Amino acid sequence: MKPKEIDMVKLRGIIGEYKDVKWGLIPLLQAVQEEFGYVPPESIEPIAEALNIPPSEVQGVVTFYAGFSLKPKGKYVLRVCRGTACHVKGGQSILSSVKKHLHLEEGETSEDFQFSLETVACLGACFVAPAMMVNRTYFGKLSPDKVNNVIGQYEKTEGDG
Ligand code: FES
Repeated sequence: MKPKEIDMVKLRGIIGEYKDVKWGLIPLLQAVQEEFGYVPPESIEPIAEALNIPPSEVQGVVTFYAGFSLKPKGKYVLRVCRGTACHVKGGQSILSSVKKHLHLEEGETSEDFQFSLETVACLGACFVAPAMMVNRTYFGKLSPDKVNNVIGQYEKTEGDG
């Protein structure tokens, strides 16, 4: 499976909404990423044009903020917490289990674009440490077994859209 094709009409529509908007760069990048799952490199030039700023500035912002990605991500993005509260409750074994199950390292996406693996400094769910997220869903009080069950649920829904 390939990442979603970039619908240039849709992309230009989103960019058009922010044309000449002062301080529009971050919200525009967020809107683009929300739609496509990442900031397609081909969107850099038209964004710069619409906001009247150099492409290097757009590129710089996308590269600087960890929340933006220039590469397509998987349908399911797993974010495993590497914060202190999770670490002391065995976060390391959670991360190892995820890596082993998905055969991915941090920052990688599976070849079929089903899964991406990331780590974050804190998910804000320390009270249920160790924790991880799959897209916007939280999973807490994890164990290696639970991790396998959670990932298994998403593997079963492959192809469901
Ligand atoms: S340290 Fe893991 S959620 Fe806060």
